[in-house]
Amino acid sequence: MSDEKRTAPVGIYDSGVGGLSILSALTSLLHQERFYYVADGFHCPYGDRAEQEIIQLSLGVARHLVESGCKAIVVACNTISATSLPALRAAFPKVPIIGMVPAVKPAIELTHTGVVGVLATSATVKGRLYLDVLARYGGDTRVVSQPCPGLVERIEAGDLDGPDTERLVRACLNPIMAAGADVIVLGCSHYPFVRPLIERLVGPGVRIIEPSDAIALQTRRVLERQALCSAGRSAAEPQVHFATSGDTRSLEASVLRLVGISATADQLVWRDGALTGAPAG
Ligand code: DGL
Repeated sequence: MSDEKRTAPVGIYDSGVGGLSILSALTSLLHQERFYYVADGFHCPYGDRAEQEIIQLSLGVARHLVESGCKAIVVACNTISATSLPALRAAFPKVPIIGMVPAVKPAIELTHTGVVGVLATSATVKGRLYLDVLARYGGDTRVVSQPCPGLVERIEAGDLDGPDTERLVRACLNPIMAAGADVIVLGCSHYPFVRPLIERLVGPGVRIIEPSDAIALQTRRVLERQALCSAGRSAAEPQVHFATSGDTRSLEASVLRLVGISATADQLVWRDGALTGAPAG
């Protein structure tokens, strides 16, 4: 493997700021890697869109990452993974693509009550990937899958624990708690940012599972297996380049607030189904 390939960035993307929860785990584990984080802010949220539309959008973002020279792609979004992974892998067979699926399997191993709750977007809980996981590992466990319409928008707006967000999260948790769940899976990469609120509402008897560390470990395994690990020196600061098709200032503010990185974000634009850098001027 050429040095140029190994020092190329790892692409990571989400509809918005949710993937920052995964980015944080990635930069903590892989100090020597560079990352290119893309948010499709123009189309965020994805979670209530039709499957075909999500697939088209996710192919457009992935093409931009590949054309920008990324050596691997982390799909830091359950909604995109649930709908688009086969299409992405077929379209870009030479680029390793790491996806994510709600962590139902570990949750089932942990439950004592036999009831597990999953908070995710509508598209994720309807997606084939999720239904396959339930069929394969569900067994006798009752899995209460709960979409949370509106929660991604609250998190994008930076409202992690205000009264509106609390009301919404409480309503999403009600069916899960009423069913007697003792484990809750955060099945959307945005939701770790409201984990403190969820923990406060459900109390200490309920375990919360989120997959960011597991995704980071899986990414390291994939890079090692394909001899793609950067041989560069570990950097003291995370090496991340940010871009969005939405509002760059808003992404910069979220990056600072949510993961403590002070950075500027580049503007991307959609043109004829392709995502590209904004023309100068
Ligand atoms: N962060 C995303 C996920 O993990 C999706 C949010 C959305 O765009 O609806 O599902």
